[in-house]
Amino acid sequence: MHVTDFRKGCPPIYETASNDDPRPPAPPCLTLGDLGIGFPVVQAALSGYSDWPMRVIARRLGAPYTICEVMLDKFVLEVSRGSKVRRLLKVTDEEHPVGAQLMGSAPEDFGPAAAQLVAAGFDVIDINFGCPVKKVLGRCRGGFHLSQPPVALEIIARVREAVPDRIPVTVKMRRGIDDSEDSREKFFAILDGAFELGVAAVTVHGRTVLQRYVGPSRWEFLAEVKRHVGSRTVLGSGDLFSPQACLDMIRQTGVDGVTVARGAIGNPWIFSQATALARGEPLPDPPGLFKQREVIREHYRLAEETYGERRAGRLMRKFGIKYSRLHPDGVQVRDAFVQVRQTSDWQQVLEKWYAEDRAGVHPPAEPEIAGTPGGGESADAA
Ligand SMILES: Cc1cc2nc3c(=O)[nH]c(=O)nc-3n(C[C@H](O)[C@H](O)[C@H](O)COP(=O)(O)O)c2cc1C
Repeated sequence: MHVTDFRKGCPPIYETASNDDPRPPAPPCLTLGDLGIGFPVVQAALSGYSDWPMRVIARRLGAPYTICEVMLDKFVLEVSRGSKVRRLLKVTDEEHPVGAQLMGSAPEDFGPAAAQLVAAGFDVIDINFGCPVKKVLGRCRGGFHLSQPPVALEIIARVREAVPDRIPVTVKMRRGIDDSEDSREKFFAILDGAFELGVAAVTVHGRTVLQRYVGPSRWEFLAEVKRHVGSRTVLGSGDLFSPQACLDMIRQTGVDGVTVARGAIGNPWIFSQATALARGEPLPDPPGLFKQREVIREHYRLAEETYGERRAGRLMRKFGIKYSRLHPDGVQVRDAFVQVRQTSDWQQVLEKWYAEDRAGVHPPAEPEIAGTPGGGESADAA
């Protein structure tokens, strides 16, 4: 059965080249503890985005692993019978391996919440020490923990103790609260302590908490972290807007894998394109409009199944806007998706703008604005 298969070892990335094959060797397979992931380009946690429909689409189109949007520990525990928490805890067979991410303030709340996420079927528990949203920091959650290594390490210890040994625990960190030496020392204290406590991997976003999304992610810092931890597993994050950037980050920094965030919203093809590039093949053409239509339609269908017809229309608008970037008439299609209120509007956009199988375009390899889509990393899901 699927659920046990992927635990047997690392799934093959692709056929290994023979000696006279000029293609570059496959990048090393990514593993999280004993959990084999495979190709080391995975779907990041994205609050407001990486819900069940987005994760299923990403998996079907080649993401070897996905992470659910962040959840608040208290929310997982207290609203245990609400429909919102049931939607957030939804895991289906085809998704495995899939990670859940926890955020909170009090260490004692993390363990029970982590156990609940494992019971729901998640394969990995990721701990959020990165969220830079003001409200989150004000409540001593997310990125705030980078300022208090003892509390951060207690949280990790509580989670590690609360879940079975077979479940990898991972940590997501920004590169510090700010650019001070004190912040840097605290980052490394948490990093080293986390591995001592048995975390399987740490994901590092190369921006500081204060930086939020302004300015680039510092990839040199990722290289430094990887050198520092040696054979332990580090995943890199930040500014992965093209398949080539995913491979560049792995090659330039030595990290064991990368988590694609904004670059995967409305472009789930980024995972298979990165795989093709890693094989030494040319960048595949962007999907044509019929292929795009099929995926967009299916994404909508999954959203409708999850949220019901009334909410799906509104929720899917932000995805439609992102999908429009792959359309040759992107601006008009974006404007059409912005108007969507209900399922019939959505269908009309597809009928009007995806009626002919024209060639698609690659989305721009940079964010549209310095900030973030859809209001940015938020704690709404939490
Ligand atoms: C809208 C949005 C929501 C995010 N939500 C989460 C989250 O729930 N958990 C998390 O660890 N990081 C979250 N992030 C951070 C991303 O996973 C990633 O680290 C960051 O966007 C940098 O990567 P990028 O520059 O390639 O987008 C979020 C980012 C954005 C833009």
